[in-house]
Amino acid sequence: MLHCNPIVTNPGVDSGAMNLFDTPAGFDDPIGMWLGCHRRIEKQLSTLAKLPGHLADKGVDAEASNAAQAILRYFEKSAPHHHGDEDRDIFPLLEKRITDPRDLERFRALRKQLEAEHERMAAVWARLRKPLQGIAEGLPKSLDPAEVAAFREIYASHIPAEDGSIPDLARRYFTAADLESLGRSMADRRGVEFPV
Ligand SMILES: [Fe+2]
Ligand SMILES: [Fe+2]
Repeated sequence: MLHCNPIVTNPGVDSGAMNLFDTPAGFDDPIGMWLGCHRRIEKQLSTLAKLPGHLADKGVDAEASNAAQAILRYFEKSAPHHHGDEDRDIFPLLEKRITDPRDLERFRALRKQLEAEHERMAAVWARLRKPLQGIAEGLPKSLDPAEVAAFREIYASHIPAEDGSIPDLARRYFTAADLESLGRSMADRRGVEFPV
């Protein structure tokens, strides 16, 4: 949890999404940590899915504001780091390391699709951000259920596509030194010390 959320000096801030059985991976297991981010994204998306109905029933109450704050915190801070891990570290390094031509061809097509989806997510998020900020501040704003559905829909195929391909490729093509440099870069992105 802590590792995905860059607000490391305030680990309690996102603790609502964590349970006692979560065992977050550290930067010394960068692929495990990266996978953990997907589970946290899914938790935030499930909160987001409930929000339009809650607002229609109860308006902007404290529960809605707290939910909007948690969603904003995640998608404004942690999710961009996660996309940075992929777009700047994991994907380029895989492209360099994959030696099998068929794997490489498949990966290049997947990378193109995933990066295009990152752009679509950013575009939908830009439309969700403002109403969520209002709700977070307790203002009487509504949330377009179609935008929420569009955002969730992109992730609904995006995350399984990544989970189903990247860990296997990483296992086959990354060296121990690659994993260490990946972990260091991910820690650096979040302003966190790499474990010794
Ligand atoms: Fe992604
Ligand atoms: Fe991802």
